[in-house]
Amino acid sequence: MYFPDYRPRRLRKNKDFRRMIRETQLSTDHLVMPLFTVHGKGIKKEIGSMPGNYQLSVDYLVGKAKEIFNLGIPAVLLFGIPEKKDEFGSEGYAENGIIQTALRSLKEAVPDLMVITDVCLCEYTSHGHCGIVVDGEVDNDSTLEVLANMALSHVEAGADMVAPSDMMDGRVAEIRKILDENAYDNIPIMSYAAKYASGFYGPFREAAESAPQFGDRRSYQMDPGNSDEAIREVRLDIEEGADIVMIKPAGHYLDIILRVKQEFQMPVAAYQVSGEFAMIKAAEKLGWIDGERLMMESLLSIKRAGADIIITYFAEEATKILNAGRG
Ligand code: PBG
Repeated sequence: MYFPDYRPRRLRKNKDFRRMIRETQLSTDHLVMPLFTVHGKGIKKEIGSMPGNYQLSVDYLVGKAKEIFNLGIPAVLLFGIPEKKDEFGSEGYAENGIIQTALRSLKEAVPDLMVITDVCLCEYTSHGHCGIVVDGEVDNDSTLEVLANMALSHVEAGADMVAPSDMMDGRVAEIRKILDENAYDNIPIMSYAAKYASGFYGPFREAAESAPQFGDRRSYQMDPGNSDEAIREVRLDIEEGADIVMIKPAGHYLDIILRVKQEFQMPVAAYQVSGEFAMIKAAEKLGWIDGERLMMESLLSIKRAGADIIITYFAEEATKILNAGRG
């Protein structure tokens, strides 16, 4: 059908026609809110480059979690900032580590809020890398055991799902194995399957105090130029036992989300990362864009590309708009 028989504008002429034929809907059901927690009491420290996001001590974290739960957001993704860092990231799997402590409080106060934990060494190591460093290099195989222990300790403390974000080869299998051996075969793994070495993580490294002290993450995170490699990475994680596969960042990697969804009919998550959030906030502050509109458009686009789940610092703000019927 061609013009003048087909006139696409006919179905755009008013709100109700547009509403009726809209193919993608955004819903709170699919949103996950990342949160950062620190040791101490009464701490609520705003992250400069991520307005509205804070490092929270556990007492405040619990309050925030209640708000999130009451809004109807199904899950939070928890990051911890330890008191002490060492070469091996040992606070990451300590009984009284920050995540373990936070999990126990969250599960007591808001038992029905799903808590997903990020499993990675970079917040816990003195060098800031996501694995154990041997002779100046991030050593893959010796890191696997540490990651597995960390995942197990999160689950023992109450995590509903673990999300390994380190990009070591073979870690999903190692985590699946240790969970199964400890009778946690019902706990799912959401793997950061195609995680790119991205400049968009800048503000997060301030939030989590996890910038690498030497070198960068290019020897384990993916090269932004690659797309076939993302398919291989995702396939590996699925074969090793991942239940949900994640693409990260989201907004500039919509092609990857689409390809992964088409190739593997698996639940796909996309992480709209700190830099994506910060850019919208910064431009809004300058008065250059309509922040609310860009927030909703960016989330809708990620959904349209094929993401089932969106991890986003906008989860709370977007939910308030959706709940008010302004989605
Ligand atoms: C830990 C981790 C990072 C992010 C999530 N988990 C940082 C990194 O890999 O450097 C980034 C999240 C964001 O930017 O919002 N490995």
